[in-house]
Parts: sequence; structure tokens; C-alpha cells
Amino acid sequence: RMPPVSQCYNLLDFEDIARQTMKKTAWAYYSSGADDEITLRENHAAFHRIWFRPKVLVDVSRIDLSTTMLGCTSSVPFYVTATALGKLGNPEGEVVLTRAAYRENVIQMIPTLASCSFDEIVDAKQGDQIQWLQLYVNQDREITRKIVQHAEKRGCRALWITVDAPQLGRREKDMRSKYDEQAANVQDNESTVDRSQGAARAISSFIDPALSWKDIPWFQSITKMPIVLKGVQRAEDAIKAVEYGVDAILLSNHGGRQLDFARPGIEVLAEVMTALRQHGYEHKIEVYIDGGIRRGTDILKAICMGAKGVGIGRPFLYAMSTYGETGVVRAMQLLKDELAMNMRLIGATKISDLDESFVDVGSIATH
Ligand code: FNR
Repeated sequence: RMPPVSQCYNLLDFEDIARQTMKKTAWAYYSSGADDEITLRENHAAFHRIWFRPKVLVDVSRIDLSTTMLGCTSSVPFYVTATALGKLGNPEGEVVLTRAAYRENVIQMIPTLASCSFDEIVDAKQGDQIQWLQLYVNQDREITRKIVQHAEKRGCRALWITVDAPQLGRREKDMRSKYDEQAANVQDNESTVDRSQGAARAISSFIDPALSWKDIPWFQSITKMPIVLKGVQRAEDAIKAVEYGVDAILLSNHGGRQLDFARPGIEVLAEVMTALRQHGYEHKIEVYIDGGIRRGTDILKAICMGAKGVGIGRPFLYAMSTYGETGVVRAMQLLKDELAMNMRLIGATKISDLDESFVDVGSIATH
């Protein structure tokens, strides 16, 4: 009854099919946002407030989507972000994303709370494929130090420290469905895990709510990987990140799964780029965004506004859960096709051509 994958014409098609065909518990965990899901909804809707200012009569016969992010080359300015519990959606788990990412030359971020073990995901890597590590910081810093140094040894090229989750948000859809033990392969403390609270809560009790700026120099002392703060949400913290010598920040609200009424990443981007420029810091740090990116135009808007790249979460999970590797490859190709066409239509031939002059942000500007 599933349509052939060739009948998925955009990323939202995968979401529709996933909603109809996925196991209820898996759908609940992947699709849910915090509280009333206002931020979840606005993450995508916010892109509707930005318009393009295309250039005409530019020779756009050749389009090049390639770029570098954190010193790593990529065929596109988007990456597969870290999402926990891949086996909820596909029995093979995150390695499905690894294989698809290899085929499309896309970078993959490995989550701390993957269903596959970290080593399985690294072992699934082919050729000079690039992976990054997403880190939830453990209360026991020795455990964290081992995870980070092991990842570096195994070739991970960047460390993304999640800073927007001192406590996991309330995702009520997920809380209503039962924790699926088989999907998790994570070191949870059996005695303190409350399995009635949904998958998210059940696996996250080790995360340290005491994590603070004071810990940043320690991370810099234990690894040579570039460090990214995942989940910055205001200009003041972006400035602070530069002053702490952090390599990059990701403007993100965790896909609307943490603080409801946190602002969409694309809106925070406008504020942050203005502040960085005012301080003369715009070349001192790379800026990324994620949340609600579903179209080539969404990616284009973010890059024009100053982002180095964007993360994509749920669409690849839905593609993986419905059509496996083929689905994820198809989703990546659709995004590439959209992006190439959109570039042509705004009159840009390569990523470095993109700048603020191509967008009208009048409806969201905060300066
Ligand atoms: C996430 N996200 C996430 N982030 C993180 O730092 N560690 C994690 O373990 C997870 N797990 C996770 C699971 C699921 C099911 C989702 C949907 C998201 C957040 C993720 O990295 C990213 O910020 C958002 O997914 C981006 O929003 P979109 O693309 O899903 O709209």
C-alpha cells in the first residue's frame, strides 16, 4: 500500500507516509515537540516570513552546491543532525543514515543516544566519509572524557555539545506512549529510569544540569576537534561563545522539543549575525541553524542570512523509517535538486555567492 519512493516529490511527502505507516510509539517519539508544540510549528513557518530578491541575467548554466563546514568538505550546505533512537523507526538504526550519507556525500552527526553503538556507526563509514559527534555531557566527567577522546581517535571531525537540554522537555505525545526498551542501547541507570515517562525521559537521566561556561576550557583541553555549542538562542551567548574561543554555534531549539516558545533558529540568526557584525566577530565563528528545514528555499535563506550550514533531523528519520536507505538517498537528492533550481532562480552559482542582498528579512529583522 506504500507508494513507490519515486512518488515522494518533497520532504513533506515522507512525513505524510511516515504518519500513516510508522509504529505509533516511534511516530510519537520522532514527531513530538514540547508542550503545545508552538515552537515546533513555528520552526518551519518562520521561513514563510522571508522573501527573495533574485538577480537576473546571471549565467547560471553551472551550479555548484559544495561547501566546507568546520573545515570538512561536503557536497551540500546541509548535514544529517543527531537524533536519538534510530531503531524505533528502522530495525537497523543509524547505520542506515550513515550509508545514505556516504552515497550522497553528506556529513552525519552521531548522537550520544543512538540505538546502534558509537563504534557500529563509525564502522559503517566508507572511504573518507565525514562524521561528527553530538555530546550529552554526563554528570561523571570521566565518562564524558572517554566518549570524546574515543570519538576523536575514531576519526570524528567535530564535537557538538548540546547546551539546550539541562533537562529533557515535556513531549506529551511521547509520554503517552510506552518506552520501547529494544530500541535503546544506551547506558541508562535501571534503578532511576521511570519508564512511564516516554522514551525521551527514560534515557536521559544522566545528563548534567550543572554544565556551564566554566566547563568550556576543559573541553578545549581534552580534544583537538573543533567545538560547537548546539542550541544557542540569543545574541549575548553568541558573543560569549566567541570570547570563550568556541569554533561554532548552532542556533537551535532542539526541533521544538525543549522550551516551547523558544524562537525559530532562522529568527535568532538575524539577531546573532547583527550582533556578531557589531562586535567585528563575524569571521571569528561559524554559525549554523536547524529546525523546520524542509525545502531548498529554507536552506538558501539561512545561507544568505549568514549561516555556514543547516542541520536536518526529522525528514531523514521519516525517510529512513518508511523506505530505508533508498528513502534517505531520495530525500537528499530531492533537497539537492530543489537547492540547485532555487540557486539558479535567484541568480547565484555557488554557495559563496550567497549573501544578505538576496533576501528581504523585513518581517523578522530585530535591529
Ligand atoms: C532530536 N534532537 C536531538 N538533539 C541532540 O542534541 N541530541 C539528541 O539526542 C537528539 N535527539 C532527537 C531525537 C529526535 C527524534 C528529534 C526529532 C530531534 C534535535 C535535533 O538534533 C535537531 O536539533 C532537530 O531535529 C532539528 O529540527 P528538525 O529538522 O527535526 O525540524
